[in-house]
Amino acid sequence: MKTLSLDLPAHHYDIHIGAGLLAQAELLAPHLSPEVLVVTNETIAPLYLARLEAALVKPDANRRIESVVLPDGEQHKHLRTLDQVFTRLLELNYSRRCTLLALGGGVIGDMTGFAAACYQRGVNYIQLPTTLLSQVDSSVGGKTGVNHALGKNMIGAFKQPELVLIDTDTLSTLPDREYAAGLAEVLKYGLIADAGFFDWLEQHWSDLLARRSDVVSEAIYRSCALKAEVVAEDETEQGRRAILNLGHTFGHAIETWTGYGAWLHGEAVATGLLMATDLSQRLGHVDVALVERVRTLLLQAELPVRSPTGMARDNYLQLMARDKKVESGVLRLVLLNTLGHAIVTSDFAVQALYETIDHFKS
Ligand SMILES: NC(=O)c1ccc[n+]([C@@H]2O[C@H](COP(=O)([O-])OP(=O)(O)OC[C@H]3O[C@@H](n4cnc5c(N)ncnc54)[C@H](O)[C@@H]3O)[C@@H](O)[C@H]2O)c1
Ligand SMILES: [Zn+2]
Repeated sequence: MKTLSLDLPAHHYDIHIGAGLLAQAELLAPHLSPEVLVVTNETIAPLYLARLEAALVKPDANRRIESVVLPDGEQHKHLRTLDQVFTRLLELNYSRRCTLLALGGGVIGDMTGFAAACYQRGVNYIQLPTTLLSQVDSSVGGKTGVNHALGKNMIGAFKQPELVLIDTDTLSTLPDREYAAGLAEVLKYGLIADAGFFDWLEQHWSDLLARRSDVVSEAIYRSCALKAEVVAEDETEQGRRAILNLGHTFGHAIETWTGYGAWLHGEAVATGLLMATDLSQRLGHVDVALVERVRTLLLQAELPVRSPTGMARDNYLQLMARDKKVESGVLRLVLLNTLGHAIVTSDFAVQALYETIDHFKS
C-alpha cells in the first residue's frame, strides 16, 4: 500500500492506494461513527457491497451499517436521485454524527459528497472509488455536486472527505471503455503539470492498456500526488486549481450537447484535451509534434479524437459560454504554455479558437 496526504488549512486526510484495501477494516475503522450509510449503485452493489460490509462490522458489531442503492448512470446525477439518499438518512433517523461511504465511480462520489455537505448541514464522508477516473481524479479534492438540465455539475459544494481508500482490485471488473476514459484524466496530469510523467506514460502506455497492475498503481499514485499538490495550493479554485480543467470546457460542451451519458466524461475530456493542445499549438505555445503525441495515445486507447457528428461551431460557443470559468461574459480557457505547464487565460485570438473547433468537426 502507498499513502499520500492532502494537507489543507482546515483539514487533512490520507489517500491510500493498494490491492484489497476494501476488506481492510483497520484502515476504515478510525474514521467511522456508529451510524454508517453506504451509498452505491445497482451495478457496484452486487460486486463489492458485501465485501465492504464485512469489513465494516469487523471492529464493532454494534455499528449500524445500512446502504442505499441508486440507479446507475450520469443521467441520474441530479437532485431527484439525491433525495433518495436524504429520505433514507431520515428514515433511519441518522444523526449529524453519521458517516456516508461513497462506493462507486465519480457519479456516486460526487453525489455522496454533496449529500454529506447538505445532510443536517454537513456530515462526514469517505471516498471508496471504483473506477479509474474516480481513483485518479474525482475522489480527491472535495468537489461534489449534481448536474442540472441546463449545465453539468452546476449544483454543488466543496466538501472534503475524511479518507480516500483506493482499492485497485476493483478495476478488474471495470469495462474497457470506462478504463480508457480514466486514462484520459491520467494523461491530463502529465500535460498540465509534469512533463516527466507524460514521457513515463508514453513509455508505459501499452502496459497501462494491458492493465499491468504495478504500472496502473504507479499511474494512480502519481496522478493523485499531482492532484493533491494542486488542490493543496488552491482548494476552492480561486486560481491555479482551474488548470485541472484542461480540455474540460470543450469536454463539458460535448457532454451537454450529446446528452449526459452518450459520451463518457473521460471520452469527452479526451477530445477536449486534444482540442486544447491543438489550440495551444495554433497560438504558438507548443509544437505540432505534441498534438500528434497526444492524438497517438488517445487513438491507441480507442478514445475519440473528433467532435460528435453534427456538433457545429455555434453549438460549442453557446455551451462554452456557460462554463464556470466564464467571468463577466469573458471566456477563460486552460491552455498549455509548454508541455507540463498549463495556464488559465482569456487572452487568446478567438479566430484560433474557431479554427480549432472547425478542425475537429466530423
Ligand atoms: N469531483 C470531481 O473533482 C470530479 C472530477 C472528474 C469527474 N467528476 C465526475 O465524475 C463522473 C464520472 O465518473 P466515472 O467515470 O467514474 O463514471 P461513473 O461513476 O458513472 O462510473 C462508470 C460506470 O462504471 C460502473 N462501475 C463503477 N465501478 C465499477 C467497477 N469496479 N466494476 C464495474 N463497473 C463499475 C458504474 O456503475 C458506471 O456504470 C462525472 O459525473 C464527472 O462529472 C468529478
Ligand atoms: Zn474530468
